[in-house]
Amino acid sequence: MKKLTQADFKERRDRLAEEMGPHSIAVIATSPVAMRNRDADYKFRADSSFFWLTGFAEPEAVAVIETYESIDEGYTYSLFCRERNREMEIWNGYRAGVDGAVDDFEADEAYAIDLLDEEIQEKLQNKAKLFYRIGQQAAFDARVAGWIAKASGESRRGTSAPAQIVQLDRIIDELRLHKTEQELELMQIASDISAEAHTRAMQTVKPGMMEYALEAELNYVFGKNGCVPSYNSIVGGGENACILHYVENDKVLKDGDLVLIDAACEYQLYASDITRTFPVNGKFSPEQKALYNVVLDSQIAAIHAVQIGNSYKEPHNVAVRILVQGLLDLGIMQGNIDEIIEKEAYRQFYMHGTGHWLGMDVHDVGTYKLDGEWRAYEEGMVVTVEPGLYIAPDDETVDVKWRGIGIRIEDDVVATENGPRVLTAAVVKSVEEIEALMAK
Ligand code: GLY
Ligand code: MN
Ligand code: MN
Repeated sequence: MKKLTQADFKERRDRLAEEMGPHSIAVIATSPVAMRNRDADYKFRADSSFFWLTGFAEPEAVAVIETYESIDEGYTYSLFCRERNREMEIWNGYRAGVDGAVDDFEADEAYAIDLLDEEIQEKLQNKAKLFYRIGQQAAFDARVAGWIAKASGESRRGTSAPAQIVQLDRIIDELRLHKTEQELELMQIASDISAEAHTRAMQTVKPGMMEYALEAELNYVFGKNGCVPSYNSIVGGGENACILHYVENDKVLKDGDLVLIDAACEYQLYASDITRTFPVNGKFSPEQKALYNVVLDSQIAAIHAVQIGNSYKEPHNVAVRILVQGLLDLGIMQGNIDEIIEKEAYRQFYMHGTGHWLGMDVHDVGTYKLDGEWRAYEEGMVVTVEPGLYIAPDDETVDVKWRGIGIRIEDDVVATENGPRVLTAAVVKSVEEIEALMAK
């Protein structure tokens, strides 16, 4: 099983310490356990940035990085975690404990999580800057504010509390935005498993099947590969495809309709994000095929626009022009292409953006603009390319034959020196390939 090594996580901590500079301390907590309902939690999933830095997947954990007078003195990595406890482990599973934090996760120092409030006071003394992710967890924010107040109150003893609090996310997000080859390998695995799930869905769908039954086919492929969905799966038959965040998935899939599936899994906490739209009975109608090919042409052209140096927005601009031209050619829109684009009149049929950063989070971290301008693609950035067209079932401005058709096609693309690299190419997307696969 492909996994990141402790050396990979250490390299990330090295980079963070370097970015922090001397006399600094960084504090980062994992996610709290989320309750589903009485006595039943959601399965725990570590906070992405905490895991990115530590490789530690248990709940109730906080990492602390401290630098000293000179960055040449290195830094100290402390991990606060749950202590080993035989009875708790019998009920709730294995814990690394403080020994495991040192031996298996390469912490320089490890403490029981219950000692955090006490130990942190000493660590905060005489540090110039505190790097902290403000605004992620209100309860933890309040706790950190309490630490600062206490450390400041102790200054009469001749020590000082950090004078500056710096948003830690700004450093980690920028590092996470540029993926290493190892990270791309994990995203490729997530994409291959997700592609297999979409292929299985195309092979198993039949008129009369429930949307949730088709979702179960996807979940089977994710689960047998040790993965979980990276977001709530959308399986929308017919006009349900026009509801962008349709997740009920509780209707019948009808003969003659398309089905839109936006679903993918995460592998080792790295996400994929794929959408395919295909006919429930295996054959596109002429209207479905005409609209589908407009979306496909726009998607292929937008993928080619993911070039190093191009603006983040270039794929969107390329996609919009092809979608609008297609709508004009099919008589769904009338008017002048430049005016339609200028006034964004196409939003009647295409109301979302063409993509987003992808990584450990499906809508991954990283700014989209620098100094107020859309940033350019750089080596190792991963973006989704997901144009679509949605003709509302009650849109009386459009001939009835187009109404209720919703189509989106989504792939995951890495910007590289050799041009765009599509991670999700293993699942077919042309009309001919889809119909051939479904006819088998
Ligand atoms: N599946 C979420 C998205 O496409 O943005
Ligand atoms: Mn997406
Ligand atoms: Mn998606």
